[in-house]
Amino acid sequence: MQQHNDYRALEARYYMPAFSRDIMIVRGKGSRVWDAEGKEYLDCVAGIAVCSTGHCHPAVTKAICEQAKRLIHCSNLYYVPGQAELAQKLVERTEMAKAFFSNSGAEASDGALKLARVRTGRKKFVAFTHGFHGRTIGSLAVTHKPGIREPFEPLGMARTFVEYGDAEGLRKAVDSDTAGVIVEPIQGEAGVIIPPDSFFGDIREICDRTGALMIVDEVQTGMGRTGKWLAIQHTGVIPDIITLAKGIASGFPMGALLAREGLEFKKSEHGSTFAGGPLACAAALATLQVIEEILPSISGKGERFRTNLSKYNPRVRGLMIGMTVGDRCGAVQKQCAERGLLVNCAADGNLRLVPPLIISDEEIDQACTIIREELG
Ligand SMILES: Cc1ncc(COP(=O)(O)O)c(C=O)c1O
Repeated sequence: MQQHNDYRALEARYYMPAFSRDIMIVRGKGSRVWDAEGKEYLDCVAGIAVCSTGHCHPAVTKAICEQAKRLIHCSNLYYVPGQAELAQKLVERTEMAKAFFSNSGAEASDGALKLARVRTGRKKFVAFTHGFHGRTIGSLAVTHKPGIREPFEPLGMARTFVEYGDAEGLRKAVDSDTAGVIVEPIQGEAGVIIPPDSFFGDIREICDRTGALMIVDEVQTGMGRTGKWLAIQHTGVIPDIITLAKGIASGFPMGALLAREGLEFKKSEHGSTFAGGPLACAAALATLQVIEEILPSISGKGERFRTNLSKYNPRVRGLMIGMTVGDRCGAVQKQCAERGLLVNCAADGNLRLVPPLIISDEEIDQACTIIREELG
């Protein structure tokens, strides 16, 4: 790897400038990372809710290394080691029936849209304001944020946006031509926005009445992040299709699509060269085992953040925390980084904390002390 001093110049010369960034992280352990200059940070970003078991968890690292020595890739032309076992573990924890793997969250969204279209024979989708489902052409079509979507319109998908949380608006928008309603149980990129649980019961009822499929995007909220395997499990609603990615394999790229009984791709309807490969499955199986052990502790850790940050009225569900801080969000993010704490500004001046699920009470207190001192 090109190290240290010249990486900024090298990137400016050779890499497309699609990101704004300053720090190069070169090493991680648990909830901590180190930059190229050797500075240590407590990481409350965790690759944006990806490094669920912390950085380089020994069980995950071991599973990846051992699998890498046996078989790195073989193609979905053959049975893939770990793939069916992982599918079983995922559907058993989510009340779904079958799984299909992808390499990212956006691909999981695309797969969900394809599955809804091909099984219903309908073309239209309904999505929500401030929602985010990815940046491929399909997932971008149901992503609301005008700044990232509009430069690429038309995206070739019949789609309507309804205000997030507005059940009456949804009732008017969904009809017998609607293939699916796609929704995040908590809007992450929008800044951790948590609607009332009853909203999801309304979506379920509207979908049941019209025959549209209820697609719940758990890419950011899934696999223990909110204190249950899925955020939708806090509401008691069972969707038709669920998407996962981010925290599912501790940072090894992987996404998944889960569907209820009777909903599946038939031969040749979907596929992918890399998806659900041996390394990704090994990383995900090890990740699930670690999360299984720590799942009961996650809600309590979230409450510790809530108590520590109560002055700022945080929105908390497990280890997904948002606070509206307004225009100074960017400056707060920078100041925290200078003091050795990584936090992230989501949309509209919302500070977002999505630390590793293994974060300790002492680390939570340390993070909150810095945030309080910076917010005043
Ligand atoms: C809710 C949600 N869906 C989909 C995606 C897209 O995932 P990916 O970046 O892996 O394509 C994201 C990414 O932030 C997300 O938060």
